[in-house]
Amino acid sequence: MAINLVTLIASLGGLLFGYDTGVISGALPFMKHDFNLTPTMQGIATGSVLIGATIGAAFAGWISDQFGRRRVILVVALLFVAGALVSATAPALTIFLAGRAVVGIAIGVASMLTPLYLAEIAAKDRRGAVVSLNQFCITLGILVSYLVDYALANSANNWRWMLGLGSVPGLILFCGMLFLPESPRWLAGRGRMDEARAALARRGGADIESEWRELRADLRGAGERTVPWSALFEPRGRRPLVIGVALAIFQQITGINTVIYYAPIIFQSAGLSSASVSILATAGVGLVNVIMTVVAMMLLDRAGRRALLLWGLAGMIATLLVLAWGFTAHVQGAAAAITVSSVAVYVGFFAIGLGPVFWLLISEIFPLAVRGRGMSVATVANWGSNFAVTLVFPILTAALGSAPVFLIFAGLSVLALLFTWGAVPETKGRSLEEIEVALAGGASLGAKQRRVA
Ligand code: BGC
Repeated sequence: MAINLVTLIASLGGLLFGYDTGVISGALPFMKHDFNLTPTMQGIATGSVLIGATIGAAFAGWISDQFGRRRVILVVALLFVAGALVSATAPALTIFLAGRAVVGIAIGVASMLTPLYLAEIAAKDRRGAVVSLNQFCITLGILVSYLVDYALANSANNWRWMLGLGSVPGLILFCGMLFLPESPRWLAGRGRMDEARAALARRGGADIESEWRELRADLRGAGERTVPWSALFEPRGRRPLVIGVALAIFQQITGINTVIYYAPIIFQSAGLSSASVSILATAGVGLVNVIMTVVAMMLLDRAGRRALLLWGLAGMIATLLVLAWGFTAHVQGAAAAITVSSVAVYVGFFAIGLGPVFWLLISEIFPLAVRGRGMSVATVANWGSNFAVTLVFPILTAALGSAPVFLIFAGLSVLALLFTWGAVPETKGRSLEEIEVALAGGASLGAKQRRVA
């Protein structure tokens, strides 16, 4: 696997995405007291980061085309640091929300730009592994945030430290990016060929000469890259757009982040006695998330994206049903055990399917000419639906109880499974060009197809 210093530093963007979204789960039970939060305000406190992320994702493609990937990541790293410090030291809820929104903008940009930079800096034959490294770092960031939450649960000003510590990887990302090359592909796209060549050499790796020749060959079709936004709605863009946006929405409305963000609260309501025991159980769930993501990374190129999506969704449906049942079983101790274990298994099934496969597929299914914009639209749909679910979850749970809410997630997972069955192509082992041709014609990807020269 092509994991060198360049990819490790760049994937800190994924780590920050994970840390800053995961940290709220352990901070919220303590913040609730300090700021007297109602269920609606809890949704807003958790969701402010997501509004920022939706906005950040919307502009990420355009800004990084204008100013370069590296410069934008440098600014994003500073936003991570500033937002963490503001939210950690906030004297009032409004300032806290503003700080979290700034962190959110940084997350939104990073969520799109990290895989994009990784894909552009990686050698072609290693792109799959390098892009999935992003999802691995997201899950690692979530796990680290849970462990930090657990370690700090009993100290003074705990939630402030939990949030403030996000500034540390932000600083490392900033310092690291100062030494990283600009994306050779972006430089070449701007006609800065000498710098592009030098950036490739700085990245290092075997056989740079042939990669350089490929990059130059790719650029011969560069006229294509200036197509208008409307190209996304033409036949060759339309089908990938529908698949990308639908998977973006399904990734969220099947409930993953109600668990990632609210797990300790879910566990407490299922009968786990103390806040810190709940946070420890949450860390266990985070570990399952990391481990199953590694399993997915090993299987993606063998079992295929489609198979992992379908199996992952089937498993999510089963565990959501058990979860709903666990909440109706009124034996406190047993209910807590059922809840913790079914949440862990549910997250495991997400981690081998919808988690990594969504981000991987959106980097594969869009034609080159509209890839950045297609990814941007799908990423915005992902953050927007994440926000909607996060906002509505505490309100729905307060109104209906936990069991019906998890039943709704199970129903939505059934829809996701049917959609995947009918519409999501297998992209394993196919060149991006073959995928583009097949999706444009609406033809089945079952048979290998060649572009007519
Ligand atoms: C999703 C996030 C989620 C994370 C959990 C990512 O793929 O986009 O919303 O929190 O997976 O591991």
